[in-house]
Amino acid sequence: MENTEKINWEPEYSIGNLNIDNDHRIIVDAYNDIVDILEQNGSRLKLVEVLSVMTDYVQRHFKREELYMKAMNYPRFEEHKKMHRDYIVNVAMLNNEMMTTWKHLDIATQLIHFLKGWWIDHILKKDTEYEKFKESLSEDVNY
Ligand SMILES: [Fe+2]
Repeated sequence: MENTEKINWEPEYSIGNLNIDNDHRIIVDAYNDIVDILEQNGSRLKLVEVLSVMTDYVQRHFKREELYMKAMNYPRFEEHKKMHRDYIVNVAMLNNEMMTTWKHLDIATQLIHFLKGWWIDHILKKDTEYEKFKESLSEDVNY
């Protein structure tokens, strides 16, 4: 049976910037690793470990993306940055819960729902939006 929680990369997930798309693919792969661990009824430690690998990468990606938006004077920069901040807080809270409850598999399930919804929406709508803005500019901005 097809695993419905996994994210299979779709052509529409490409926002049209190779470097950013590449980051997003790495993030999606890391996410799929978490789903694998959960499917195998993974230990709390294993889950926390793969989540932290994903979060490390995500933090670096957010930083790069924020510099990029800033460089193009993106009008919705602050709003976008706040979404990144909220994401990090949310994941940190779920991570904390996962560490401290005996129901860590339930929390991990909540976590993957959150991550899947957030990333698909964020890539398709929010990130696509700044890239469209960038394309409207006359000068080039590098990510
Ligand atoms: Fe973003």
